[in-house]
Amino acid sequence: MIHRRSLLTGAAALAATPLLPMRALSAGIDPDVLEAAMAKVQIAPEGYPKTEIWSYGGTVPGTEIRARQGDRLRRRLVNSLTEPTTLHWHGIRIDNAMDGVPGVTQDAVPPGGAFLYEFDLPDAGTYWYHSHNQSYEQVARGLQGPLIVEESDAPDVDREEVLVLDDFRLDPDTGLIAGFGNMHDFSHGGRIGNIAVTNGSFNKTLSVKQNERLRLRLLNTANAKIFALELQGLEGWIVALDGMPLEAPKPITETLLLASAQRADLIVDVTAEDGGEAHLVRYEGDETFSQALFNVNGQASGARRGAPVPLPPNPDMGVTGLEDALRSRLHMEGGAMRGFQSAVMDGREVGFREAAQSMNFWAMNGMVGMPEEPLLIAERGQTVRVVMQNDTMFPHAMHLHGHHFREVLAGGGLGPLRDTLLMFGDESREIAFVAHNPGDWLFHCHMLTHAAAGMMTRIRVLA
Ligand code: C2O
Ligand code: CU
Repeated sequence: MIHRRSLLTGAAALAATPLLPMRALSAGIDPDVLEAAMAKVQIAPEGYPKTEIWSYGGTVPGTEIRARQGDRLRRRLVNSLTEPTTLHWHGIRIDNAMDGVPGVTQDAVPPGGAFLYEFDLPDAGTYWYHSHNQSYEQVARGLQGPLIVEESDAPDVDREEVLVLDDFRLDPDTGLIAGFGNMHDFSHGGRIGNIAVTNGSFNKTLSVKQNERLRLRLLNTANAKIFALELQGLEGWIVALDGMPLEAPKPITETLLLASAQRADLIVDVTAEDGGEAHLVRYEGDETFSQALFNVNGQASGARRGAPVPLPPNPDMGVTGLEDALRSRLHMEGGAMRGFQSAVMDGREVGFREAAQSMNFWAMNGMVGMPEEPLLIAERGQTVRVVMQNDTMFPHAMHLHGHHFREVLAGGGLGPLRDTLLMFGDESREIAFVAHNPGDWLFHCHMLTHAAAGMMTRIRVLA
């Protein structure tokens, strides 16, 4: 049987003959190198041309980095792009000098330059790395990849799949649609794509067995898209969020929202019949799509297993001392439809219209963009509470570098450890964390056009 699809594959294979020499070449490259460079990959359906992207290691998502908890990670970023770049290791409790923030922890690496990142991995979990320079464009072009830190005591599953959820704004004939810095994306909900992908593929398909137990590591690396996910033919538990284990696995009974930069580790059993299909389902309003298809071929066992045990907790993650905490507030305003009355930009009071002329649309505590002074200065080990009030019409995914926090819930309880919190318009939420990691740490919206258009501040933890 020859389908049109395999004919196209044949033609593409001809065009791709230099594959072998390239492999041979890469075998000689220092394994510690992570090269940022242009690449061409098949994002659009077969038959359409490949899409030019910016990539780590020639693929999107970039090369998976996998290490063990307690390891020291070493990667030399080699910048083969035409623009300066940096690497940020999202969610890692990292040495501040390695955090990859241009202008705060390092200078951006110029084209042709290199930078050695070297740091310990104190925590197991699902993390990722991405460019932190002009990230609204560089991440949208593909500069991101998964960073998996394995527990020394791995959970009892049959297999593991890393599923990187992303979207692209793509013209299948001509490639990524430019206009990364356009006014609409900056002032509204961000750069939302027209094609959603899993591991770079719009029709990600896996083969599984009935009653097989999978660990799914889900990552949202999209610029702004909030993935609304459900399971079909799969049943299971959330075992970790943003890399950090839950105290008890949480049965998946409702739609899982995964905002930009957030991760969720699931342990699921394939409950669909042998010969049937299971899906990671994505909601777009009332419509559903298959974000990943699982074809069920055979049986792993006759019955489902019992509930999984919790993943081992990461060390020293307790959030205590809430009563005597250093308290701070973050007031978020701006964006389309509301704007702000006035805010300080580059040391000057400006109105919304004037800010908009330089592509700034958002303010935090009356400041547009990174202020001179940090939002707060904490002693090392001090507990910090921040009330965040979103007076805009838009959701924001607030991310703190170098630390995980817990939400202080209305009843006084604490939410799960996270590094990124999704807030909807007009919501007010409070987070608490122990400022254990010395340095200046960014605190920003991870909807990357929002970060570029004003939603950026930092905290300082004294040594
Ligand atoms: Cu995922 Cu400031 O970064
Ligand atoms: Cu935002």
